[in-house]
Amino acid sequence: MKVRKAVIPAAGLGTRFLPATKALPKEMLPIVDKPTIQFIVEEAKASGIEDILIVTGKNKQAIENHFDSNPELEQDLEKTGKSGLLKLTQGITDLGVNLYYTRQPHPAGLGDAVYRARSFVAGEPFVIMLGDDLMKDKVPLTKQLINDYDKTHASTIAVMKVPHKEVSKYGVIAPDGEIADDLYNVKNFVEKPDVDKAPSDLAIIGRYLLTPEIFDVLEYQKPGRGGEVQLTDAIDTMNKTQRVFAQVFKGQRFDVGNKEGYLETSIQYGLKHPETRDALRKYIKELGKTL
Ligand code: UTP
Repeated sequence: MKVRKAVIPAAGLGTRFLPATKALPKEMLPIVDKPTIQFIVEEAKASGIEDILIVTGKNKQAIENHFDSNPELEQDLEKTGKSGLLKLTQGITDLGVNLYYTRQPHPAGLGDAVYRARSFVAGEPFVIMLGDDLMKDKVPLTKQLINDYDKTHASTIAVMKVPHKEVSKYGVIAPDGEIADDLYNVKNFVEKPDVDKAPSDLAIIGRYLLTPEIFDVLEYQKPGRGGEVQLTDAIDTMNKTQRVFAQVFKGQRFDVGNKEGYLETSIQYGLKHPETRDALRKYIKELGKTL
């Protein structure tokens, strides 16, 4: 079956960005001039995804508004002859993918957020995309996972080597032999292990391709680490009855889910953006002399 659906969980509280995220969704924080969630939707589109369900919650209306048209703004841009900005604005509503929304009533964990997608997914293989990670590679990571699925017809989770002292921030895998280039069998999936107990330095990085049987597991999944229903725990259970592979990502990952990573990503993207790159490069060079 073709993979054509994606789920973007966006109902978290974003506590690491308070006070900015008290009323503003974390997913709307911009990298230079584009909200992080738009990068995710664009990656889905570039990977051949047709239908996207965004799981939202309280204070998340700005996400829906962002992908909707804004007639007053468009009229104004047209009247004032700002055709470039008009095209840019209209492009967001004409992305060529169908967007659907549902709400998670309580931020009870990523597993609980994903479970809300059960009837949307309706028995098809699908991808989960987290807005905390922006990925850059020749082939989008989501497309790489879909290419794996076309060969294996099995679930595949994207992982990446992270510094050992940071493993406790992630879901981590215990690899069990490489079966093809960068594609691993997995013995266990462990959510946020203690550094001295982590089975490897291969961390789950926010792109998952799953078969729909994950919902049969999530239905009965008890809260785990942090009192939250953990997607990693459900994946570990599913791996006991059907194989779940791990694909090591070799491209560039930008972690925008914490302050430091967010600032670094903004600088990196600012140094590439045609409107900011020259001035920013000059500024950073000058600033560097004073540090
Ligand atoms: P995070 O833990 O990174 O996001 O969850 P958060 O909870 O919003 O942020 P912090 O840790 O408090 O700063 C990963 C993804 O899962 C979603 C989040 O929106 C984020 O995209 N999520 C998490 C949900 O949709 N529901 C939840 O109950 C938990």
